[in-house]
Amino acid sequence: MPDSWVNSAERTGSDLHLELSRTGSRRAALIAALRDAVRSGRLAPGTRLPPYRSLAADLGLARNTVADAYAELVAEGWLTARQGSGTRVAERAAPPRPARVPVRVPVRTPGQGQGPGQGPARPAHDLRQGVPDASSFPRTAWLASARRALAAAPHSVFGPGDPQGRIELRTALADYLARARGVHTDPERIVICSGFAHALRLLFGGGVLGGPLAVESYGLGFHRSLLDAAGVRTLPLALDDHGARTEELAGLGRRVQAALLTPAHQFPTGGPLRPERRAAVVNWARAHGALVLEDDYDGEFRYDREPLGAVQGLDPDHVLHLGSVSKSLSPAVRLGWMVLPERLVDPVLAAKGEREAWAGVLDQLTLADFIESGSYDRHVRRMRRRYRDRRDRLVTTLAARAPHIEVTGIAAGLHAVLRLPPGTERSTVKAATWQGVALDGLAVFRHPDATMPAPDGLVVGYAAAPDHAYGAAVDALCRALPPR
Ligand SMILES: Cc1ncc(COP(=O)(O)O)c(C=O)c1O
Repeated sequence: MPDSWVNSAERTGSDLHLELSRTGSRRAALIAALRDAVRSGRLAPGTRLPPYRSLAADLGLARNTVADAYAELVAEGWLTARQGSGTRVAERAAPPRPARVPVRVPVRTPGQGQGPGQGPARPAHDLRQGVPDASSFPRTAWLASARRALAAAPHSVFGPGDPQGRIELRTALADYLARARGVHTDPERIVICSGFAHALRLLFGGGVLGGPLAVESYGLGFHRSLLDAAGVRTLPLALDDHGARTEELAGLGRRVQAALLTPAHQFPTGGPLRPERRAAVVNWARAHGALVLEDDYDGEFRYDREPLGAVQGLDPDHVLHLGSVSKSLSPAVRLGWMVLPERLVDPVLAAKGEREAWAGVLDQLTLADFIESGSYDRHVRRMRRRYRDRRDRLVTTLAARAPHIEVTGIAAGLHAVLRLPPGTERSTVKAATWQGVALDGLAVFRHPDATMPAPDGLVVGYAAAPDHAYGAAVDALCRALPPR
């Protein structure tokens, strides 16, 4: 049995349990136990260790044994010793914990895949779609908004939350969405939620709307699974460079209750829904008593073309406008909004329940201040410039190094689609994995019942990598592309 020691709170202000092996010298056992505690992360970087005397007393060791052990670990770089601040765990003593980034590694086909230990352990280059640059989160401005919001909040804010969302945020959003996205609304028609996925859950899982639902032939599998789980059948509409072929809606018949579209920037193929089709889908909804669900997931990020207002502006009674801060700020903030036809507000609130259970009041008030103070606009403008530069670098590099690869869907958003020669998508995704690049091919976004031709392509997110790593990521991508 090893000796164990609990460092009492009176001596050092913190508890530490160490286990010393009985084999070998006491000094070696102490060194091994401390090294192990640092390596495993139990002793975090910066933690102050107990003075020699108290540790020696607790463990029944000579004071010199402890002093020797500390000196050895200082020499090895596990600990640091400074006059006046005692002995501490070195800042970089612990090996970095593996980041729990949910990188989707492309499926490996048996017989073609990499054997264990042969491929890169973890993608070194992040070109995943859908992820904004996390290093650019506007910490200072967000903190300033949080401070102001908290200081101004009445006590009632800390009572049970209103499921519709704080009026401050709904008011700020009504103004912002009208100004920036051409949405027609007032605060009473907005319901705050935790993001687009939550909006889908409320609408379909909460029984507000039913299926079947027309969707685009390419979209996010996660959203399709969510609809499947709610028992909603989805019927895919074909796509081309001008977005969904909304004229197909008429052929789907009266049973289709609604159409879910990404009009500003088709996800993931990238085209904006052309004006005739925007009008056509609204006319269809009016004629059939149906609804259009507008997923405005990256509407703020447009580069070379005239701003495209929301389809909701054409008919606020037949279009639900759904948005979130997932692309503009961070997908981890979990705040979104539903701009609803008036008749749907109560059913959505009924689906949410009596009290707000998803969107925290402090985040809501902070976002309200962030928008009203102009910080949101400033942040979006700054990120728009940054992402446009990234996109331009991608396009220029590909034009120089892979001119046979067409880059499409680049007028807006945070990702581009690289068109690949027929039959090369799988091998290119695999080659990218070998180059340490995390990205997806187009096929993973395809609706299982889609009948339109299946182009080969890569969906390249140019926002996720931090600035310093972006050039290397594009370079690695170029090495993975099929030759001319
Ligand atoms: C097509 C699409 N819609 C909506 C969203 C936003 O989802 P949420 O607000 O749930 O984070 C994303 C985010 O990646 C997306 O890709």
